[in-house]
Amino acid sequence: MADLLKLGVLISGNGSNLQSIIDNIENGSLKAVIKIVVSNNPDAFGIARAKKHGIPFAILKNGDYRSKDDFDAALVKILKDCDVELVTLAGFMRIITPTLLRAFPGRIMNIHPALLPSFPGLHGQKQAVDYGVKFSGCTVHFVDEGVDTGPIIIQAAVPVMDDDTEDTLGARILKEEHKIYPRAIQLFADGQLEINGRKVKIINR
Ligand code: GRF
Repeated sequence: MADLLKLGVLISGNGSNLQSIIDNIENGSLKAVIKIVVSNNPDAFGIARAKKHGIPFAILKNGDYRSKDDFDAALVKILKDCDVELVTLAGFMRIITPTLLRAFPGRIMNIHPALLPSFPGLHGQKQAVDYGVKFSGCTVHFVDEGVDTGPIIIQAAVPVMDDDTEDTLGARILKEEHKIYPRAIQLFADGQLEINGRKVKIINR
């Protein structure tokens, strides 16, 4: 059996994407192991999810570091000490610095609740409702120095209904997030993602 891909999952909140990664590992469809969950929020529900499944976790409080770089340096140390090969941001509410990017070049993924490049940043679901688009969705992308600007790996579209609110659209999008994030991670684990500038090619093996 091939080695399991070693993941670090970074969270700040509910952790439903973390849960979908855990579930896909446990049901055998994702050939990976979560080496560490890191939260910058001590009250994140995702920490309870990690505990329940016996996954190691660490809490790094924003206020304990003098600068964003200092925070990311501490984060890199934890991830490296755990031999992490792929860093997955799963509702991690921080902008990451070059300190983290340089430590894991082409090895950091994020999930965003909109069809990028539309509606980057906070509240992608609300932005879509307010704008009046007929379709929105979610995007898994590699992380670069911008906000939600990195090369796109997979997207899933969902319809926007006339009476949608941020919450109803968000729930529809979240169901798709839980499918495409584990799929993108498995493609990475299988060495099927080739990054060429802005483009990610999925190679059939
Ligand atoms: C998701 O909507 C994700 O797209 C965004 O933050 C939210 C995290 O949700 N980046 P959860 O903590 O995984 O439930």
